[in-house]
Amino acid sequence: MKISIIGTGYVGLVTGVVLAGKGHEVICVDVDKEKIDRINQAVPPIHEDGLPEMLKAVVNNKKLRATTDLKEAIQNSEICFICVGTPSKPDGSIDLTQLENAVKQVGTALKEKKGFLSIVVKSTVVPGTTENVVLPAIIHASGKKAPEHFSLCYNPEFLREGKAMQDTLKPDKLVIGHTDTICSNNLKQVVTPICPVIETNYKTAELIKYANNAFLATKISFANEIGNLCKQLGIDAYTVSRAIGFDPRIGNQFLGAGLGFGGSCLPKDTAALTSAYKKHGLEPKLLKAVTEINDNQTERFVHLAEKKVGHLSGKQIAVLGTAFKAGTDDTRESPSIKVIGLLLTKGAKVRVFDPKALENTKRELGNKVEYVNSIADCLKDADLCLICTDWPEFKFIDFAGMKNKVVIDGRHIVEKKDGITYEGLSW
Ligand SMILES: NC(=O)c1ccc[n+]([C@@H]2O[C@H](COP(=O)([O-])OP(=O)(O)OC[C@H]3O[C@@H](n4cnc5c(N)ncnc54)[C@H](O)[C@@H]3O)[C@@H](O)[C@H]2O)c1
Repeated sequence: MKISIIGTGYVGLVTGVVLAGKGHEVICVDVDKEKIDRINQAVPPIHEDGLPEMLKAVVNNKKLRATTDLKEAIQNSEICFICVGTPSKPDGSIDLTQLENAVKQVGTALKEKKGFLSIVVKSTVVPGTTENVVLPAIIHASGKKAPEHFSLCYNPEFLREGKAMQDTLKPDKLVIGHTDTICSNNLKQVVTPICPVIETNYKTAELIKYANNAFLATKISFANEIGNLCKQLGIDAYTVSRAIGFDPRIGNQFLGAGLGFGGSCLPKDTAALTSAYKKHGLEPKLLKAVTEINDNQTERFVHLAEKKVGHLSGKQIAVLGTAFKAGTDDTRESPSIKVIGLLLTKGAKVRVFDPKALENTKRELGNKVEYVNSIADCLKDADLCLICTDWPEFKFIDFAGMKNKVVIDGRHIVEKKDGITYEGLSW
């Protein structure tokens, strides 16, 4: 099938590459010309395991190309996936600017399109958005009707950054919200699901995505709540979570105590859901606690550092890891960036290293910190080392170059602990 992908970030590019790998003809669209050029040269603008190889293959065999010309992409596709960002506004509510612009452009292009178009919205949106914002905007811009000229469905994305390729190739479920079956049938034909398919209305599909992420965030905050007591009592939180994880009603994932959740999804989706509760006159008690516990973890971490080495002012601190988790270059809402912010307000001198995320870190922190390209350079003459991301590279580190070998681990990742003063955040 001929496919267009609007917005080629973490979701859009991976979706496009996987669909092109299945033999479909894919056109990726983005407003960012630099991203488009990189994709056409088969150089991924993001870090994801397995992406470089597959991108190269589908660009070389001409199954995937990229453009900034959305109109041309819509003219040449039968199904269009909208994957633009839906970040938070300062008050936590969802910012639909990118989506509104993209939908308007798709509608305008549809006006001149001869054939039928299936439109799949993948961006995360609060319940009511597809029906009340997306559908009217397409009708208004195109002057066309559904399901006569186009069909619209909502298909939330559940991929994990760092495992995005494998999650897209083998999703655990396919959720489709629709009012007619044309688009959903085309979607199923394109993705050929071998997982459970849940077909429902728009707003249920929209809420499934938020409920999914809110539950994951809750698990992490629960693990941190238990972990904080563990630390106080001298108990290893990981022995506790490993044991409870054997209970099939609990499961062993997302129970790692530490610096908490970050990234472009869990914090913003929890905030948008909290905001949706308030909009509808409800009090999101559990979600509020989940967010509060998460926000406190970075402060607890810096407090622990002060307890270990005293005032941080003027101290040389090595921060290992700025990505919000291992396997990605994404630093959006990364707990590490928050830790660095706190260190800087306390007058510390911060030097950072991350195997993949330095480019994005520079974009966030500019010249406020020093950047280095190796673990050894980061540790050189440092008074303290803070481990903020669970990169496997940090398991067996030689801390010999540090001035004072004090290491505080926020991710339960360090395995080689001889010759250092080691402290875990919750263990
Ligand atoms: N990143 C994840 O792990 C993940 C997982 C599940 C769901 N989601 C959701 O998927 C959506 C996309 O997330 P992402 O992380 O891929 O975002 P992203 O910021 O990485 O990518 C969005 C892209 O859309 C482009 N864009 C914006 N407006 C455009 C327009 N009018 N035309 C063409 N391109 C446009 C931007 O330039 C950017 O490249 C969000 O709603 C997010 O919540 C993300």
